[in-house]
Amino acid sequence: MNRRTLLTTGLAAGAGITAAPFIMRKGIAQAGTPVTLTPWVDPLPTPPVLNPANIISGASFDPRVTAFGAPNYHELVEAEGFHQFHRDLPATKMWLYNGTFPGPTFINRLGIPTVIRRINNLNPAHVGFGMPETSMHHHGGHQSPMDDGWPLDFITPGTYRDHLIPNIVPDNDTNEWPSTLWYHDHTIDYTASNVYRGLAGMSLHFDALDSGNENDLNPAALRLPSGAYDVPLVFRDVALNADGSLLFNQLDTRGQVGNLKTVNGKVKPYLTVQRRKYRFRLLAGSMAREWMFRIWKGTTRLPFKIIASDGGLLPAPVQVTQHQMGNAERYEIIVDFSTFPAGTQITLNDHLIQSDGNKPAGVSPTGDPVLLFVVEGAAAAPDPSRVPAVLRPLSPVDMTRVVATRSLVLSQAGGIWTINGLPWNPNVPLFQPKLGSAEIWNVSVKGGGWDHPLHIHQEFFRILKRGGATPQAWERGRKDVVLLSNTTACQLYVQFRTFTGPYVFHCHNLGHEDMAMMGWYNVIP
Ligand code: C2O
Ligand code: CU
Ligand code: CU
Repeated sequence: MNRRTLLTTGLAAGAGITAAPFIMRKGIAQAGTPVTLTPWVDPLPTPPVLNPANIISGASFDPRVTAFGAPNYHELVEAEGFHQFHRDLPATKMWLYNGTFPGPTFINRLGIPTVIRRINNLNPAHVGFGMPETSMHHHGGHQSPMDDGWPLDFITPGTYRDHLIPNIVPDNDTNEWPSTLWYHDHTIDYTASNVYRGLAGMSLHFDALDSGNENDLNPAALRLPSGAYDVPLVFRDVALNADGSLLFNQLDTRGQVGNLKTVNGKVKPYLTVQRRKYRFRLLAGSMAREWMFRIWKGTTRLPFKIIASDGGLLPAPVQVTQHQMGNAERYEIIVDFSTFPAGTQITLNDHLIQSDGNKPAGVSPTGDPVLLFVVEGAAAAPDPSRVPAVLRPLSPVDMTRVVATRSLVLSQAGGIWTINGLPWNPNVPLFQPKLGSAEIWNVSVKGGGWDHPLHIHQEFFRILKRGGATPQAWERGRKDVVLLSNTTACQLYVQFRTFTGPYVFHCHNLGHEDMAMMGWYNVIP
């Protein structure tokens, strides 16, 4: 019996006796040593871009890589390293992609396939939580099952695996091209611990429409804020021991929440902003914590525009004054600082009260400031960027493709989280959809004590109904995560295109995922 089986069966046996772990831990304060930290002393870091690497001569490639022609080759190394969450905290030993947390940002261009050689340099004799055998999933990517990070496709320390990111769109429909994806470890039973150790990063997508150049001369280009004004924001809560090491409770099957909220790996960082428009790409990258964002200038709540969701740009911007996000969701917003005088301080606050992985307990009226914007500049800065009223069109839902209606009920039994009453089983697919078809999935939660952010791999879906009604404008675009509670059953339109084979779907509360709330579908020709 290896450590994986030992730990897995140990966990399953411990939690399987009764539902006691759920009850016993209810009400226990969220994990983490309380610490007093000076806010707004660390600048907001931006993760580095993953640049192409030189191909070492003699390196051999999977024939599928060679089939792409000259590979656009990158190297991603998983290794132990140190990260500091705040100036006044001791450094934390983590598992890092290329030495940084969050990992380096992938840059994707439509039609340019990318090869990522993922090299596992973790310590094979690792002790403590986490599994040094690793898998990696490019979350939201339309890629073959071999590259998708199937949870049992883990590689051992000292070995590598090539991931092919084809950067294609299903049906050659460029309306399906996304804008903000992410990538993270996906090892069976250990996704929560490995992602918590640090194995996660962002993946940005560009094409002729959303070109990443606010000065683009192409009249078709949107010219959204770009470069230094296009900023990814990874939200992640952590809990630390007094020595700075990560605190992780492997027995918390609800999904752990930590007491320190971080943005791009820092507790309460600040960002100096020019007097102009910014594009922020928000990722709820926790294990279990949900977020509700509001932006404040003193006691004034500022409006902002949502321009994109998981699957890319919305057909039109949506103006809001708050936004809630479940784990693994991405939303992009535009914030305009042009009218604020130099020195103005603006905060991004999280308003959810959440002390366990089950679900938030309520909404705080004041919220918890997690990021400070400090406006600089005597005058409004030059701003060639635009936020057009029409962004990326939404291809119509084609009901004539629908060949099946399924229901998925998310629940729990005896400490195991289940889908349709079943725990994860790598040997039996839950569904076998036909390539080229579409299906309606009615997804619901049984039991009111918890939320589940359900994620489906491989294709963006559309939320046709939430709680029986048309969803809010920001949920009508392409999505790959839907945040569910027992009062908001959803009806999804799901398609299966381009690739045959196995893909997983699961709750993206990583504690739930590892505790068996995952199934898979097998696309058949
Ligand atoms: Cu973000 Cu299956 O994962
Ligand atoms: Cu995914
Ligand atoms: Cu869940």
